Amino acid sequence: MTPKVYDVPGDWATRAYLDDAAYQEMYKRSISDPNAFWAEQAKRIDWFKPFTKVKNTSYDPHNVSIRWFEDGTTNVAHNCLDRHLATRGDQVAIIWEGDDPKDDRKITYKELHAEVCRFANVLKARGVKKGDRVTIYLPMIPEAAVAMLACARIGAVHSIVFGGFSPDSLAGRIEDAKSTVIITADEGVRGGRKVPLKTNADAAATRAGGVETMVVVRRTGAAVAMQAGRDVYYDEAAKTVSTDCPCEEMGAEDPLFILYTSGSTGKPKGVLHTTAGYLVYTAITHQYVFDYHDGDIYWCTADVGWVTGHSYIVYGPLANGATTLMFEGVPNYPTNARFWEVVDKHQVNTFYTAPTAIRALMQAGDEPVKKTSRKSLRLLGSVGEPINPEAWEWYHRVVGEDRCPIVDTWWQTETGGILITPLPGATKLKPGSATRPFFGVVPQIVDAAGNPLDGACEGSLCIADSWPGQMRTVFGDHERFVQTYFSTYPGRYFTGDGCRRDEDGYYWITGRVDDVINVAGHRLGTAEVESALVAHAKVSEAAVVGFPHDIKGQGIYAYVTLMTGQQPSEELRAELVAWVRKEIGPIASPDVIQFAPSLPKTRSGKIMRRILRKIAENEFGNLGDTSTLADPTVVDDLVNNRQASQ
Ligand code: PRX
Repeated sequence: MTPKVYDVPGDWATRAYLDDAAYQEMYKRSISDPNAFWAEQAKRIDWFKPFTKVKNTSYDPHNVSIRWFEDGTTNVAHNCLDRHLATRGDQVAIIWEGDDPKDDRKITYKELHAEVCRFANVLKARGVKKGDRVTIYLPMIPEAAVAMLACARIGAVHSIVFGGFSPDSLAGRIEDAKSTVIITADEGVRGGRKVPLKTNADAAATRAGGVETMVVVRRTGAAVAMQAGRDVYYDEAAKTVSTDCPCEEMGAEDPLFILYTSGSTGKPKGVLHTTAGYLVYTAITHQYVFDYHDGDIYWCTADVGWVTGHSYIVYGPLANGATTLMFEGVPNYPTNARFWEVVDKHQVNTFYTAPTAIRALMQAGDEPVKKTSRKSLRLLGSVGEPINPEAWEWYHRVVGEDRCPIVDTWWQTETGGILITPLPGATKLKPGSATRPFFGVVPQIVDAAGNPLDGACEGSLCIADSWPGQMRTVFGDHERFVQTYFSTYPGRYFTGDGCRRDEDGYYWITGRVDDVINVAGHRLGTAEVESALVAHAKVSEAAVVGFPHDIKGQGIYAYVTLMTGQQPSEELRAELVAWVRKEIGPIASPDVIQFAPSLPKTRSGKIMRRILRKIAENEFGNLGDTSTLADPTVVDDLVNNRQASQ
């Protein structure tokens, strides 16, 4: 079936920075002479000391090294705050919308600057200095952005852990980053429910050890235990420091932040991003992908615990002097109209969310959308997972009333910013396609042997050369960086995604080709869920796969073999789900647990996940070759049990 194509709307063709010809021309320039292109683009930020070298990168697996603008110096907080003060000090930088529709706040650039300086001085007073890792475990309150920028100001490296992660997950990240400082809140508030962040942080600190300082922001005012000598309330500490805090001079390649993300094996990796290239890349993408103009009200609904929040709530927008909206709540609280009510209340022009939210709201019907105006909306965005054409069409027709283009932006924690995306004034849209590469990005689709394919084709998605926003290493483990991204297809960055390119050169992401699942736009390694399950005393073995889920995109399907003598039961099923929530966090809760007397293994003992995936997908007729299994009858048992459990 030929997909429907949506032309650039007339008003966009006149308003946007770039039309198709301008995109083509600029793209060609970015590829043919990256040094000249990025040297020009780097002017969008202030430099303390100018760079003389632009690109110095190697994808050679024996020497992977990625450096951009390496001899220049700058500071991210200076670029996001100080340089705007003269021209837009009184402009709103952050609109904060609380979980409760009655709570909101507007913070100007001048106020944000003062608060960031104060927070930076609180950290400095506690001995935090350049290069130290600061763990941030906060809800979506302005202090999250303040804490990030405070770290950037003094050269500390932040490591944000999503507030939905368990104490164990938090402890693992504190330990890996060798972080001695945690910034948290008494409690978080989401969808009317409280999240005991300080209690979780205490448990994590005990487990990890080595935590010397805990700065606690008061969100709800709940009484929490404060450990003398270690813990301090932010508001109390802030009273004792000044709002004068000079920016640290940072090398372009000095680390800005670490963000943990799941891979196909082992524990989550600390993705490391550095200073100048990341900022240039998030700023340029925020400008062109969202066609951002002065005065626009821009809202990205992500959480700062994920990369989308880092790049497109905080760094990109603030580098561009934008007004960025930060939302503490969830799409369906108090009602399914919440997103659109917030759009009307703050007159949002650009709205950027995840397919899982769109699908959930689509299921709730058109009425909650249609009772709002949404006249301020001009552009819609999608990120985090493939968007199915039905959800795309609904978003376009019902939310955007056929007048707002949708930018389906493909990227990853590792890429720092958007790599494949439409530009709203330039790109014809096909529902479900992330369309074309951004400036400086050379996608390559390769076959199983690693040969690049031409024209219309399907295979694994690689990127042929570096762009400034790319991650630089895995914190503390450069070898793992090389192994994960540069060894499967030597000489190329391997994304872990499958992809199709159509006859128009449009890219269609087909999902992960590794053992990573994408649940409601959140990345999870199947190995992480498996190791949580086998840590339960009654579980002997577990294998986890993804399966198609109407709202979450993918759900978690766990095959569990019990210890000898244990009997399957509904109670045990519930106990195991609760166990995984406690071990990792609610996002990792299995949707289905199938008790399996044994798992399909090859003669060398490797679990054949391909078969487990097919069974989870209900594709019994299409199990493929099972002859290499040590015991093929295992599969019949699994299929019979699957059918019985429906
Ligand atoms: O599989 C791709 C999917 O999300 C993965 C990256 O996840 P994460 O690092 O958590 O970052 C999410 C936000 C950038 C990718 O490998 N993905 C992300 N965006 C899209 C997508 N899949 C299809 N279409 C997208 N627009």
